[in-house]
Amino acid sequence: CYSPELLHLYDLKGKAVVAVDILRATSTMVTAFAHGATDIFPVMKLEECQAFAERGCLIAAERDGIKAEGFDLGNSPFAYMNGNVQGKAIAITTTNGTRAIHLSMEAEEIVIGSFLNLQAVTNHLLDLQLDVLVVCAGWKGKFNLEDTLYAGALVERLQHAFSFENDATLASLYLYQTAKQDLVTFLRQSSHVRRLENLEIHKDTEFCLQHDVYSTLPVWKNDRLVDIAAK
Ligand code: MLT
Repeated sequence: CYSPELLHLYDLKGKAVVAVDILRATSTMVTAFAHGATDIFPVMKLEECQAFAERGCLIAAERDGIKAEGFDLGNSPFAYMNGNVQGKAIAITTTNGTRAIHLSMEAEEIVIGSFLNLQAVTNHLLDLQLDVLVVCAGWKGKFNLEDTLYAGALVERLQHAFSFENDATLASLYLYQTAKQDLVTFLRQSSHVRRLENLEIHKDTEFCLQHDVYSTLPVWKNDRLVDIAAK
């Protein structure tokens, strides 16, 4: 599903959803857990996110790629690496990624996917043996390349164990196999990479396209995301 706005076309009951926003929400969430965050509360609205500060959470917000005023953190994974999130719960709202998560609540399980934890998600889905729907955050309801490339990477690693029923899955696989030798170059002209470059955000794209840097496995449990790979 290349946009959360199309989720009404799908029956999520009994399925595992992999929510993905490569640039940058789910890459950032995976990074935050890898650097010691205990819980992540993805929320839809800025005001809702701000209220989590009273609960002792760090609060993070991004709109149109920019860190929102009055928040502890934005949506660059690099902001979560200096020990500041160790042992902390984080509430976060982003332009697209947190919306994709919230619109997937009917699913049996919601897993947070990124290239950074690709194999951890692959292994988990092989264990779960549920039908899988990859929900791409896209950009404000529109298709983007990087999230569909991720879907293709996941399909390539799962295709020996899963059958797939639609052309979107096949297209994502072919797209990834065309691009995988050099994703950074392949995405150089994409809308989101250009948007980030225009905002003088240069390091995030290359970092978020790395495969299997972390083994974190964020999954929705009750009312938040927790890393079920954490010992
Ligand atoms: C999003 O959630 O839309 C993206 O992560 C936006 C961004 O951080 O550039």
